[in-house]
Amino acid sequence: MTLETACGKIILFGEHAVVYGRPALAVPLAQLRARAFIQARAAPGIIIHARDVGRTIELHDAPADDALALIARLTLDRLGAHADLEIVVESDIPLASGFGSGAAISTAIVRALAAYFGKALPPAEISALVYETERMYHGTPSGIDNTVIAYEQAIRFVRRKPLGDEEITPFHIARPFTLAIAHTGIASPTKITVGDVRRAWENDPARFEKIFDAIGALVEHAQAALAHGENEELGELMTRNQRALETLGVSSREIETLLDAGLRAGAGGGKLSGGGRGGNVIFYVELENVENIKRALLDAGAASVSVTQVGAVRL
Ligand code: PMV
Repeated sequence: MTLETACGKIILFGEHAVVYGRPALAVPLAQLRARAFIQARAAPGIIIHARDVGRTIELHDAPADDALALIARLTLDRLGAHADLEIVVESDIPLASGFGSGAAISTAIVRALAAYFGKALPPAEISALVYETERMYHGTPSGIDNTVIAYEQAIRFVRRKPLGDEEITPFHIARPFTLAIAHTGIASPTKITVGDVRRAWENDPARFEKIFDAIGALVEHAQAALAHGENEELGELMTRNQRALETLGVSSREIETLLDAGLRAGAGGGKLSGGGRGGNVIFYVELENVENIKRALLDAGAASVSVTQVGAVRL
């Protein structure tokens, strides 16, 4: 039996504007993982069991728009491998929530197939394979999710056309900090918010380009603060990024209710993370306030709240 895993991710700054060529910063969430198990199958063909959603897919008759079948096919082609296999996937990562669940599941499958056939695939190749499934979930994804998950590092990402020419730079976090992550409980497909922003941009490109520029400037500022350990600036920068996302039309009443509750309970700042309209709200918090903030967020209707250290050395 071969087992490989992949992490979830959180976008710290720059979502949506990243689709339009501005930089974004994202970090892996090592404790939230998707797993793929592979073993030989006695029957002919390849079968995929997606445990969490109770789905079973026979590869030979899977529809062309099935993302799990697509990633298995692309990876087997890339490896030039054939075998009768049973693949089981499971994941701790909530779906459609801004944690990159789709990219993580695909990455785990690519890694497990490569390991099963004894081949090494570098992160750039894994990322490129997973990008193909992201296109199925997202329409016009920037590629940030597959990149940060395949590299499993804090990544500054700038989309460039043509594909494959993007800027992927690990960024430095001089001092670890704590994030509280409140889940709205609302699954919001990224494809929809990305499509809405696209239409709004088409109607008024000058206005939207200005907002994207403002978000890009916040990202530069945040990256410099992270590099110099000036963490006290991060909360304020997050809240400013949130206000810009509100003007893009991707926030929601639920997100703003949680944001207000977190800020009132003492968070240094916060913003939606990912596609928006649902998913997660992230907060910059000091450790001594965490319990207060957690309670306030749950009282304000958060479906769950998790706390994570960003930039801490992993042992
Ligand atoms: O919803 P998520 O976490 O997969 O993030 C999407 C990020 C966007 O910038 C909104 C879209 C993209 O492809 O970069």
